[in-house]
Amino acid sequence: MMTAVSTSTAFWRQIDRRMGIDAPAMVDGAVPASRSFDRGPTDRGVGPVPLRLLPDTTEVLPDDSLSIGGVDVTSVAEAVGTPVFIYDEEHLRSRCREARRAFGDGVAFASKSFLCRAMARLAHHEGMMIDVASGGELYVALRSGVPAERLVLHGSNKSTKELALALSIGIGRIVVDSFDEIERLNRLVARGGSTPRPRALVRVNPGVDANTNASIATGREDSKFGFSLASGAAAEAVDLLSSGHSPVDLVGLHTHIGSQIFELSAFSDTIDLLAPLVMKTQLAELCVGGGLGVAYTGDQEAPVSITEWAAVVRDACRRAGIADSVRITAEPGRAITATAAITCYRIGAIKTVPLSSVVRVRTYVSVDGGMSDNPRPALYDSCYEAFLPRTVSALRPFPVTVAGKHCESGDLLVKSGHLPQDVVVGDLLATPVTGAYGYAMASNYNKLLRPPVVFVGDGRYRSVTRRETVEDLLGLDVDEPVLPHCLP
Ligand SMILES: Cc1ncc(COP(=O)(O)O)c(C=O)c1O
Repeated sequence: MMTAVSTSTAFWRQIDRRMGIDAPAMVDGAVPASRSFDRGPTDRGVGPVPLRLLPDTTEVLPDDSLSIGGVDVTSVAEAVGTPVFIYDEEHLRSRCREARRAFGDGVAFASKSFLCRAMARLAHHEGMMIDVASGGELYVALRSGVPAERLVLHGSNKSTKELALALSIGIGRIVVDSFDEIERLNRLVARGGSTPRPRALVRVNPGVDANTNASIATGREDSKFGFSLASGAAAEAVDLLSSGHSPVDLVGLHTHIGSQIFELSAFSDTIDLLAPLVMKTQLAELCVGGGLGVAYTGDQEAPVSITEWAAVVRDACRRAGIADSVRITAEPGRAITATAAITCYRIGAIKTVPLSSVVRVRTYVSVDGGMSDNPRPALYDSCYEAFLPRTVSALRPFPVTVAGKHCESGDLLVKSGHLPQDVVVGDLLATPVTGAYGYAMASNYNKLLRPPVVFVGDGRYRSVTRRETVEDLLGLDVDEPVLPHCLP
């Protein structure tokens, strides 16, 4: 027998209150009593979380708890709720300044790694241009107050609408990616869509294997991005765009060979391949894209700094015979944002399951976020560390798998993590190096609410994006009248 569902206002008010609507800020800080369970084998060799994975202004307080930007992380998580992205503002600023010093004017922040208005303003104020890869990113950057001439538009399939918008606002640079795009630009410029003429770079695919995950390698011959160097398509695009009928002022070449790259020789190899075209065309700019790798776990090598990366790129340009007058730029994303943030979650369940293998059991530590705030482990098999902000220098002998709360077995944030032995339900758990491609790729799968972003610095914190609400979940639904079927 079905029970009638009450739809009275009082009923919905009760539901709303439970969902936190109209209620005072929800603090998930209550620590329920921990059930006793078999903690399985421990691994005595696993030390504290390496501090080099944490943001620049990280401090360990006298009670062994975590402070970033002069702010006690546990208090922020209690005030704002979990999950929450916590960014060290000084870390972001210092990487932007470093990029600007190392490459000079024209270096752009790859906003796809992390974009909100506060981030766009910060990168702009620190002297970077902003690289946008869609009309949406373009809109957010513009609405943040970034002048159009400081924006660079990318994309392998820019729509007519996106191009028209870029032309109408006088965008700084367009990185042209296909012959179809050139035709589209021709049509738009002929219609008088742009004054002055847009400045453009040709995206060249050099055919380089950057030794990274296949999904984020973009410079291989078989790629949807850019014009192939080997086939002559790149030279043809340059000819078209520098002819008298060109819709744009061609100012340079652009390439981006992939992300999370540690072997700098991939950049030097790329420059060697591109140099003949740069010299033949005598174009004034060469952008080497982004891609500098960062360490996500303690066992990964310490990454090269942006300064060292720029030095290797400049040196390779000089050795390949590219004139010093050519403006060499780049578009770092991850190297600026990744290590600047941690994500804090609340542990809601700890479950030990028997295994048939030699490792006798696996302990799942379940948190209140998951693949919706960090899809990288599911997408790229990316590895992360986990630790407890209440006890930063504790040894972590307890092998765990940190699981999210989605209805997917693959929703694992840290497959092979380690935590202190005394972890309990209700503890705050943090994953470091989540500043890049986490919030940017977040979804509300399973209708989870996208977490807020908090910036910390100078002993203060401020939310720069709020948490999604259940009202937001309904915000896109429409009750349109049924339209009559269109007959020919
Ligand atoms: C064209 C372009 N530039 C820059 C970047 C930023 O790369 P990363 O975040 O690895 O530095 C990307 C990333 O996909 C890209 O596609």
